[in-house]
This record gives sequence, C-alpha cells and structure tokens, in this order.
Amino acid sequence: MYDRKSEKAELFCGEFTIIPTIISSFYENTTNDLFTPGAAPPPPAPPEQKKKEPRIKTFQIYRWKPGEKPKMQTYNIDLNECGTMVLDALIKIKNEKDQTLAFRRSCREGICGSCSMNIGGINTLACVQKIDGNLAAPLRLYPLPHMYVIRDLVPDMSQFYEQYRTIQPWLQRKNESKEPKGSAQYLQHPQDRLELDGLVECILCACCQTACPSYWWNSDRYLGPAVLMQAYRWVIDSRDDATEKRLTQLIDPYKLYRCHTILNCTNTCPKNLNPAKAIIKLKQLLAGYKKKTEPKLETAKLFE
Ligand code: SF4
Ligand code: SF4
Ligand code: FES
Repeated sequence: MYDRKSEKAELFCGEFTIIPTIISSFYENTTNDLFTPGAAPPPPAPPEQKKKEPRIKTFQIYRWKPGEKPKMQTYNIDLNECGTMVLDALIKIKNEKDQTLAFRRSCREGICGSCSMNIGGINTLACVQKIDGNLAAPLRLYPLPHMYVIRDLVPDMSQFYEQYRTIQPWLQRKNESKEPKGSAQYLQHPQDRLELDGLVECILCACCQTACPSYWWNSDRYLGPAVLMQAYRWVIDSRDDATEKRLTQLIDPYKLYRCHTILNCTNTCPKNLNPAKAIIKLKQLLAGYKKKTEPKLETAKLFE
C-alpha cells in the first residue's frame, strides 16, 4: 500500500520521477494551516431559511376508466413545492399522491403536442400553461372536449389521425419516376418557403380541432381546422405537384364547407397559429379567387 509519508517510495511516470516527499510535505503544510490555532475561522453557516407559508391550490381533475362512472377528483398541491406549469402539478400528483392518474406528456416544451387538454375551460398544452395563482379558485382539468376518452385525461386520437391521413400529408411529384429519390435536392425559393410559415409549426395537438363547434357536431365528416390547415400546407407548397388533386378532394359539403368562420380554433391555438385563415385560403383557391403561384425554382430542371 502506498504510504504518503514514505521518503523512499517513488512514482515513475514515463521519463519523469515524482518524489512523494514533495507531495507529502505540501499536503502536511496545507492541512496544518487549516487547523492551526489563530488561523482564519471557517465562514459562518448561512442563516436558516424561514419556512414559507404553504400556498395550497386545489386541482379538480376528470377521472374515468372503463366500467366506472366519470367523476371529478380533488387534489391539493402546495405551489411552493411545485413547478410553475400545469404539467408540473400533474406530474407531482402522479408521483406523490395518485399513481393511477392517466395523462399524456412527452417533451415538456410545447413541441410534441401530447399534453393537450382542457384547462380551466380552454384547450391548451399543460406544459406551457401556467398554474393560475388564485388559490381561492380551483383549477379544473378535463380531456379535450367531444372526443372519446380512453382514460382520465387521455383522449382517443384515432379519428383525428385517420382524418389527417386522408389529406395525404407528404410531398407528391408528377414525375417521380424521373426523379430518383436521393439524387437531388427538391428546390424551393426562399419566397416560396415563406408561404409555409405559420403552417409547418403546427404540432397536431388537436386543441383547435376540439374547440370547433362544427367539428363537435360533425366530427365524422368535417375534417376540422387542424387537418384543413395541413391540407392547405401541402396545397400551397411550391414543391408539391398534386395541388389539383388535393383541392378536388375537398369539394364536399362537409369536409371543408362546414367551417363557418367562428374562429374558436384560432383563439385557442397554443402555438398562436391561424387555422381559420388557412381554411379561408383553401376556399378562395377552390372558388378561383386566388391561384397558387408558379414555383420560383424548378426541381424538374435538374433532371432535364
Ligand atoms: S373557424 Fe371554422 S374551423 Fe375554426 S372553429 Fe370556426 S368553424 Fe371551426
Ligand atoms: S393549429 Fe394550433 S391548436 Fe391546431 S393542432 Fe396545430 S398547433 Fe394545435
Ligand atoms: S409535453 Fe409536449 S407539448 Fe406538452
């Protein structure tokens, strides 16, 4: 075993020899200084923190699981011991009070769209919604309205995703066989790319979709604001060639024209997007009031 006081032991390190006596005397001098009478005293301990008054906030949360009747369950949380967002409170409740509570979450940053729910009467994302500091008023949490519920705050999104699939949300080219995948970049002029701003930021949280009265009453036939905004996103993309086909698919009394421009969708979007405006633009294209502009850069020319 290495003895730090040994004057004989030596450490070899490549070409250099380190004599432990130097290390040993340095160590002893240093430690002696710390405990020598008259040396500077250690800094005083910080004053004991005064315990804050608890700030108890009541959360009333919708609970349901198959085979049971739905109910509202109450949980009290001390806001001094909780993060600032509603999702923080939900995670605290699940971790410390009730592990049976079910809700979706993933990114905690407002980018995955999975924690959408109805909070205090508004469809929004739990991870970006601050807890209302008014302790006198309980905060009520429900799943997204007018959706089938799988359990507690977890809605069934199957129909929403199926409707999203029907608009074929992927790039379509008329001469795909002449443009081997990976052989060239699809070109898009910066001005054409600007058209997609305010559309590609959608995280498909369905807050707008489930705030729309037209969707509530006709969710099986009306595509709803989130899906229609994505339909417009692909219609207007300068690289996409399926514009006519996409627009024709929307000619239907329900799919598009059930929108009555009530604007609930735009008011509730937690990403500050404007699905109602996208729907109006789709209607203008279909009515011939507007035309999709020709692309300013042509990918097809790369293959000529
Ligand atoms: S503007 Fe259209 S899509 Fe938006 S809430 Fe109103 S009816 Fe629904
Ligand atoms: S438009 Fe807004 S509210 Fe609607 S799905 Fe997209 S991000 Fe969510
Ligand atoms: S957890 Fe991803 S948006 Fe809230």
